[in-house]
Amino acid sequence: MSSPRSESCPRRQALKLLGVAALSLTPGCRRDRAAAPVARVPLAHLEGGRRVVVALGDDRVEVSRTASGLVARSLVCTHQGCIVAWQEAERHYKCPCQGGYFDAEGRPLMGPVSVPLPLLPVRIEGDEAVVG
Ligand code: FES
Repeated sequence: MSSPRSESCPRRQALKLLGVAALSLTPGCRRDRAAAPVARVPLAHLEGGRRVVVALGDDRVEVSRTASGLVARSLVCTHQGCIVAWQEAERHYKCPCQGGYFDAEGRPLMGPVSVPLPLLPVRIEGDEAVVG
């Protein structure tokens, strides 16, 4: 089972408790200071409507190719940050933590979720899809 992401970053916890004014008083997380992560997926891996899950920093992203182009969707649940998984038979994403469900477009279906799974920037570089 995945654990909520907010627990891994004391700075985020501090900001939740103290508000944005605390930003200058708390040390930054290593992840916040690092260069933005990038993930690469060979375009050949996306043929046939396949959904490819890749790491983007500490998070997971699903990359797929639809009729309208490349799609990169965060798999970090918008409730408390667990990693959701695509359920092919049911055609939805399921969160293992509190039972949140998202439809095929990442929109909340049921459970404690109310915010869609975010889409991320993705582009083609050569024969790869590049996320981030
Ligand atoms: S973290 Fe996904 S439903 Fe709570």
